[in-house]
Amino acid sequence: MCTRPAANLPRVSLMSVVLGVYPSSKYGTLTIADRLGGVAIQLQGFPIDAVKQLALRCAREAGKLSLERLKQPFSVEYKTSASDLVTAVDKEVEQYVADTILKEFPDHGILGEESTFQGESSAYETLWIIDPIDGTTNFVHQQINYAVSIAVYYRGEGMMGIVYDPSRDEMFCGIRGAGAYLNDRPLALKRKVKLEEALLCTSVFWNKRAEQIGIDRIVKKLAGKVRGMRLLGSAALEMAYVAAGRLDGYVSMALHPWDFAAGKIIVEEAGGIATQISGEALPYTQNSSVMACNPTFYDELRFHLHKSAES
Ligand code: IPD
Ligand code: CA
Ligand code: CA
Repeated sequence: MCTRPAANLPRVSLMSVVLGVYPSSKYGTLTIADRLGGVAIQLQGFPIDAVKQLALRCAREAGKLSLERLKQPFSVEYKTSASDLVTAVDKEVEQYVADTILKEFPDHGILGEESTFQGESSAYETLWIIDPIDGTTNFVHQQINYAVSIAVYYRGEGMMGIVYDPSRDEMFCGIRGAGAYLNDRPLALKRKVKLEEALLCTSVFWNKRAEQIGIDRIVKKLAGKVRGMRLLGSAALEMAYVAAGRLDGYVSMALHPWDFAAGKIIVEEAGGIATQISGEALPYTQNSSVMACNPTFYDELRFHLHKSAES
């Protein structure tokens, strides 16, 4: 568990990137290298361009590997219950991503769902947060609707988030201060959405905790207040869909950092808001509730969720 306080890195607005006006600070000067597919920012001490290339390559290769493995039988195990699965493919993909990162950046840390990397995450200035397959139940049952999620944090700040859906070849990417993209298309949440017109998405637990935390706290309380609710089964993909405007908001009472670390950056870079339900900033190495949405109805949604969390 990380106890290091987040560093106050300079906030770089998209405008300053576009205009080429880069704030300097004790951490150095930011300079534009190119545009995504893509944009690259050079932050002294943090090689964002090399990290970006590596992260995109890892996500694409990991996705390809997962598709390959779907052609043959693979083992499926229960983690805590029949609703909590892990496959041999989850482990193999995470191992592949971790090995590839460490080959290029041996001093970086990795926080992955399958714990293939044993180091203590708080000890690393640069931390990669990986969910090799987010949506394992979908991977097993549907063979679609899952994603590879990779986020890179530097001194506690989210620098880059990637959510890659291999079955549709959709690469969602957010780079701090440089925007969000779906493949080559920039993502920007410009449409104003009223809560009553919003299509939301949520994750709920389907084990014994289902009635305690999940259904009562979110679905029932938002019934009648939003246009509809979906459960797609991959938090990372659902957050990426919020950034793309396919969904207007995503809410979960409890997620692991690898479920939301990349999605948070993509949502924020698309102009959305991603916080805990309390409104506090999302942690990056701890479990948390998550709400990510179009900014228009953020306060109203939080009001209903906060009320529901207390009642
Ligand atoms: C799960 C998915 C799901 C969410 C669960 C996660 P996994 O991740 O993101 O949507 O409801 O809380 O654990 O286990 O498929 O990587
Ligand atoms: Ca996950
Ligand atoms: Ca997973």
